[in-house]
This record gives sequence, C-alpha cells and structure tokens, in this order.
Amino acid sequence: MDIEAIYLEIEADIQNVNSREALELFRLKYLGRKGAVAELTSIIPTLSKEERAAFGQKVNSLKNKLSEVVGEKEKLLNVQPETKIKVSCDLGMPGIAQELGQLHPLTQVLDEICAIFNRMGFSVVEGPEIETEYNNFTGLNIPLEHPSREAFDTFYLKDYAKLLLRSHTSPVQVRAMKERKPPLAIVVPGRVYRPDAVDASHSFMFHQVEGFLVDENIRFSDLKGVLGVFAKAVFGKDIKMRFRPHFFPFTEPSAEVDISCIICKGQGCSVCGKKGWLEILGAGLIHPQVFKQVGIDPKKYTGFAFGMGVERIAMLKYGINDIRLFFENDLRFLKQF
Ligand code: PHE
Repeated sequence: MDIEAIYLEIEADIQNVNSREALELFRLKYLGRKGAVAELTSIIPTLSKEERAAFGQKVNSLKNKLSEVVGEKEKLLNVQPETKIKVSCDLGMPGIAQELGQLHPLTQVLDEICAIFNRMGFSVVEGPEIETEYNNFTGLNIPLEHPSREAFDTFYLKDYAKLLLRSHTSPVQVRAMKERKPPLAIVVPGRVYRPDAVDASHSFMFHQVEGFLVDENIRFSDLKGVLGVFAKAVFGKDIKMRFRPHFFPFTEPSAEVDISCIICKGQGCSVCGKKGWLEILGAGLIHPQVFKQVGIDPKKYTGFAFGMGVERIAMLKYGINDIRLFFENDLRFLKQF
C-alpha cells in the first residue's frame, strides 16, 4: 500500500465532508476496524526487522495526520451557521449599488421660480392647504355669490363648513399681510385644489406660486418689470410678454399675462391654438378692499400680486403635453429631468 497515495486521497476526501454523517464515514474509511490505518498496521508483523521501525513511524504519522484532519473538521461542523457565514464572507466582493433619486420635475421648477424671485428680494412664505373660507374668499374680496364658493367648485371639509382645501395660494396674502407690516415682498409656493375632472390639462390638485409686493408708490409698471425679469429668466431673453385686461375680485386693475409661444415664436401653431401667445399667470394691483380687510391703509400703501400654475410653466418649459404625467410616478418620465 502506497502511503503517499493515501495522503492525497485524504486531502481529496476531506474536502467533500460537509456533515457529521460524512465525517463518520470518513473516519471509518481511514481509522475504522477495517480502515486504511488498520490495514497498514496489520502489515507491520510481516516486515523485516529493519523495515518495521521506519514503516511503523510512517503509519503513526498518518494516524496523527488523520486525527488532526478529523478534529479540525469536527470543529468546523460544530460552529453555528451565522458564524459560518461570517467565515465565508468575501469582503472583496462588489456591493449592491444604491440607486440615487432626484428631485421631482415640479419641485425643480418650483425651486427655480422661487430662486428667481429670491434674487429680486422676495422671501418665501408658506401657508396651510386646509384654509378658512374667510382667507380663501372673504378676505380676498370674493363675494358670497361668487360661483367658486359653491360646494361643487371647492372642496369643503365635511362637518367643517368654514374649512376647505384652498383653491389658490392667494389666502397666504391675507395671512402674511395680517402678520407683517409693509414693505413686503413675498412668494408663496404650494398645492391648491379644485374639483376639476382630470384630463390632459386639468388636475384636481396642482401647484401655484403666488407673489405679492406691498410698499408706498407701487405701480403697475413695477409689476410689469418684475414679471418681465421672471419670464426672461425662465423662458429665455427673447420671450415677449403681454398683459390682457381681466377680472379678479382681489386685484384692480387685473390682467392675464401671456408669453409669446415658445414653440412657434408667435407665428401661431397647434400648441398656442394659432394665437401666438400662451397664458402663464394672473396678476394685478392689490384691491383696496383687501388692504382694508388686513388692516393696511390703502391710502398709504399700494401693491401688486400675481399667481401662476407651476405645472403649466413646467409643461411649457419642457414641452410636456399631459399634466397627468407629473402625478403617475412613472420613472421612465421622471428620470428625464
Ligand atoms: N388666485 C388667482 C387664481 O388662482 C391668481 C391670481 C393671483 C390673480 C394674484 C391675481 C393676483 O386664478
């Protein structure tokens, strides 16, 4: 029997021992009554005197080697599974990369709008989405018979007839003007709610940025100047702006503001409905009645206010043709910004 060959066999066999049962079979194979060691030992008496000592020593070393291997394996099989995982942990293996998110396109546009007004000295103020009927309507000179006061035109809170989901960010004018003294230059980003049926251009919830400025000697030209800077900053320096007479109960005079169509540059296309202009916001000089409601003297102070839809600005800026895309959480859409 070739002892060297037995060593090689042991090395190979022990690799495959992964359970106590397998270890027992291994032990029997080499150390059992009919095992390799027993067989080798039985040869010894047949050897010549000279050979015996050397051979006996080799068998002994083999025996020692075997008990060492068996002992080690036993230890390994006895450890708890958790510690075993630790032993087999490969610190060099590449990790699982975390996917980094980004700001929602609406948040990006909202931030950009606020930053533009920030640079002109406006500070950001926020208000609650659940408002009083007073702040949303009465304080803003919106008469009792105004259609938007109807339950169908506004989300009233059940059991709280005087509370509603604000239909615009203008109530924050009332809040801020009551709390602070002029001069005031404030922008108000936030969500608003209207029970509109959802389609490509309507959503029951959307975002507005309100802006207003109150000081002595504020004129309509100040409003035009500020909005001009804003429009150029968002849409580029070649953009044109026009003010169309309009009506809002809380501003007088009031206007709707259009920019020249960014697609056809004013020539008329399907996006602007062949008009060459796109409406982006409502604005005007703050109505004296509003000043009276909040305790500001309309003889001393004047001011302007404007309100814009953030979705609309974002849609025009990026050429998005369906407002629903903002709210569907589809990563294929969101990842493009
Ligand atoms: N609150 C108006 C709206 O939601 C917009 C607006 C704000 C108009 C301020 C004039 C002044 O339609």
